[in-house]
Amino acid sequence: MLPSAVQNATKILRPSTWSPARLSVSSTVTGRTPPLCAIYRPRIDPIGEGIADRRWLHSTAKWRPVQALDEWVAKEARPISLRQLMVFGRSLTEERLISSANYVRTELPTRIAHRIRDMQRLPYVVVTNRHMSEVYELYYTAFDTFRRVKEIKTLEDNDKFCSIIAGMLRAHLTVIPKLAMGILECNGLMSAADLDRFMNTILRSRISRRVIAEQHLALTETFNSDWFSPGAKLSESEFIGEVFLKCVARDVVESCGRAVQDLARSAYGPDAAIPEIRVDGHLGATFPYILTHLQYIVGELLRNSVQAVIENHRKNPTTDKKPPPIEVTLCEAQQHVIIRISDRGGGISRDTLPYLWSFGKGPSTDQRLENLGQVPLMAATLQELRVDGNLQNDVVGHGGSHGSRYDEHNGSLTSLSTRPPNLRLGISLPLSRVYAEYWAGSLELHSLEGYGVDAFLQISKLGNKNEQLATRAAMDAV
Ligand SMILES: Nc1ncnc2c1ncn2[C@@H]1O[C@H](COP(=O)(O)OP(=O)(O)OP(=O)(O)O)[C@@H](O)[C@H]1O
Ligand SMILES: [Mg+2]
Repeated sequence: MLPSAVQNATKILRPSTWSPARLSVSSTVTGRTPPLCAIYRPRIDPIGEGIADRRWLHSTAKWRPVQALDEWVAKEARPISLRQLMVFGRSLTEERLISSANYVRTELPTRIAHRIRDMQRLPYVVVTNRHMSEVYELYYTAFDTFRRVKEIKTLEDNDKFCSIIAGMLRAHLTVIPKLAMGILECNGLMSAADLDRFMNTILRSRISRRVIAEQHLALTETFNSDWFSPGAKLSESEFIGEVFLKCVARDVVESCGRAVQDLARSAYGPDAAIPEIRVDGHLGATFPYILTHLQYIVGELLRNSVQAVIENHRKNPTTDKKPPPIEVTLCEAQQHVIIRISDRGGGISRDTLPYLWSFGKGPSTDQRLENLGQVPLMAATLQELRVDGNLQNDVVGHGGSHGSRYDEHNGSLTSLSTRPPNLRLGISLPLSRVYAEYWAGSLELHSLEGYGVDAFLQISKLGNKNEQLATRAAMDAV
């Protein structure tokens, strides 16, 4: 139960249009821009530890004109499908590249503006959390930068624009850990369901912006490369931008499996008994997808299974020295592909089960906060957990022909953000679900208490479903 001061403060400080600018009119008169908290430091003690608690100490928020944001919030995001992303890049010309640049130029500030408005609607005690306000600053800087970019007319304009995009992608690698810590620290200041809704929305939006931005960077890279000739059609086995036209489910599972087994060896020691990963079912299943998204989801599911099997096997050693294998079944239907991952790691513990999909609630909050504090940058790709850096080559080696180009592109971001494999952050499952649902798929887990877990990842095969933007409400969420 919250202290009543916090409950009251949460109610009082929740104007639906909370905005630093509206509240600091006097600063426009004097021409000075006092820090937000100098004027509005809340007279409350959110967690009963004294007002000087460092989680709420910040002085970075600046005065901003609200009109620009209002203008951009009034615009709607234009949804895009995986198929559109592919068609766009399939016969790439200068004209198409420039038009892609202008799509990105207007789409990014629109989508960021909606998220800034979401943050402004959070209770004051939440948005003034140290981590949350840092994310707010990052978003506002990005919004302000993108909204000022003039129409792209030439390839030179585009090159300059691409370096802005790349810089912003790098700067925003801190967003996931910051948000995750912010949400954990704000646990109790808003309902857990509202916090999770906010987190899901902001992460989905983040994926959408990164897809759009990275796709454009990749198209530009393609356009500028020696092997490319404008208008040429790309073959079936290749990437178009970020989209891998022919993800072979089996290859992805096997290569992620090897990477996860290597991680387990580095975390549990070279002599640890590592479970085998077996793949059966429709081994020829293929579909277009963004490879890094698929690797993240499959990798995290396998990582959970491998960890559970090893730990369960250690607790209950059998006469058989080998731990039970993890069985992966692939099922291809007309509309979708399902990847089922079954383990015998003892199932999910009772105290964890109700919070499996929650960012803000669950056991071991303090430990998770401490672990998150050790991961300043996070791209949310499996590559950042890699032991030897071979994952990308491995997957591309099976299906694509531009391994080096792809490595280079992803490496530039993921090499900046590695994290120790044995740190448990408690965010992989909810984040994997955000990724899965983003392209109209789904992720479910069934736990058989005392026995094991079955995870079902459904992937929409056609790639022509829009990112989840069909309704106005969903539109607001990107
Ligand atoms: N296959 C599984 N078998 C048993 N328990 C599982 C399994 N998958 C998940 N869990 C439980 O669910 C919890 C949440 O999983 P999740 O992957 O979201 O976070 P995590 O593994 O704790 O940390 P990280 O974000 O680093 O992956 C795990 O800590 C574990 O207790
Ligand atoms: Mg995990």
